[in-house]
Amino acid sequence: ALITLRQLLDHAAEEGYGVPAFNINDMEQGLAIMRAAEACDAPVILQASRGARSYAGDIMLRHMVEALAEMFPRNHIVLHQDHGNNDATCLSAIRHGFTSVMMDGSLEEDMKTPASYDYNVDITARVTRAAHAVGASVEGELGVLGSLESGEAAAEDGSGAEGKLSQDQLLTDPDQAVDFVMRTRCDALAIACGTSHGAYKFTRQPDGEILSMSTIAAIHDKLPDTHLVMHGSSSVPQYLQDLINAHGGHMPQTWGVPVEEIEKGIRMGVRKVNIDTDCRMAMTGQFRKVAAERPEEFDPRKFMKPAMDELEKLCRDRFERFGTAGQA
Ligand code: G3H
Ligand code: 13P
Ligand code: NA
Ligand code: ZN
Repeated sequence: ALITLRQLLDHAAEEGYGVPAFNINDMEQGLAIMRAAEACDAPVILQASRGARSYAGDIMLRHMVEALAEMFPRNHIVLHQDHGNNDATCLSAIRHGFTSVMMDGSLEEDMKTPASYDYNVDITARVTRAAHAVGASVEGELGVLGSLESGEAAAEDGSGAEGKLSQDQLLTDPDQAVDFVMRTRCDALAIACGTSHGAYKFTRQPDGEILSMSTIAAIHDKLPDTHLVMHGSSSVPQYLQDLINAHGGHMPQTWGVPVEEIEKGIRMGVRKVNIDTDCRMAMTGQFRKVAAERPEEFDPRKFMKPAMDELEKLCRDRFERFGTAGQA
C-alpha cells in the first residue's frame, strides 16, 4: 500500500533502519525494485525526478505505481518527488498521487544557481504548508551537495556549483538546520555530508571516513524528529564498472560511497538513502552484455530481463545492508 514518507521514516527511526529511495522511470525499474522488496520483505521509497515525470508521463507513473502496489500488497511504498524545483512541480506531483515531495530550495528554480537561505526557507515553508494540508510529506534540503575531496570530482560530471565552494560550505550547519526545520516544518531534511550526485564522486579509492559522521550526528542530535536524507549515495560498484567496460562501455575509473560508510551513516541517524546511478549502471551493464554477446538478438525482452535481474540483485543487497529487510 502507498504510505507517506513521514509514516515510513517514523517507523524506520523507531526501529533504527535506513530506507533506500530508488529512482524510477519505467516499468522495468519498478518491477525489479519491487521484486527485491518482496523477496526481502522490505518497505521502499520509489522516487521520480522531473525528468522521470516527463519521460513516462504523470498518468503513466501514477497508474504504474498503483499497479505495483496492487501486485506487491505486502510492501509499503512511498511515491516521492525527487528534487522538486518549485511549488508547481511539488503540488502537481501530489495531485498525481505522490505521497511525498522534495522541495529542493537549496538551488534556484533553474537547479543550477545556489539559492539564498531566505529563499530556501520561504519556498520550503510554503510547499510544506500546502502539502501537509492534503496529507503529503515534505523533504527539504539545506547545504550544497558536493565532494569533500575538493569538488574536482563533482565538477567532472558537470554538476557545477559546488566546485567553487570550500569544504565548510559543503557541510550543512547543525544550528542552521534547527532554524530551517523550525521555520519550514519539513518532515525530512537532505543534508550535505560529503556526497555528490552522479558516477564521478571520487577520483581515488576513498580511504578512511569519507562522510562527515560528526555532521550527521550533530544534526540528528539537535533534530531527533526530522528524518535525515543522504543524496548521492550510489557506491558505483567496481563490478558494474567492469561489466560495462568489458562490453564496449567507456566509463573512466571512479569511486562512489562505500556501502559500509552508508551503514555507518544509518547508525548515526540517516533514514533515507537516495540511489540512482547504481541502478542505471546495473541495467546498462546487462544491456551491453547481451548486445555484445548476442548480436543476433533483437527482442527487447532479452535485454530487459537480465537488466531487471541485475537491478533486483543490487536492490536486495541494499535492503539487506540498510536493515530495511524484514520491515515491510
Ligand atoms: O538527482 C538526480 C537523479 O539522479 C535523477 O536524475 O534528473 O536525470 O532523472 P534525472
Ligand atoms: P546518485 O547519483 O549517487 O545515485 O544519487 C542519486 C540522488 O541523490 C537522487 O536524488
Ligand atoms: Na528526494
Ligand atoms: Zn539527489
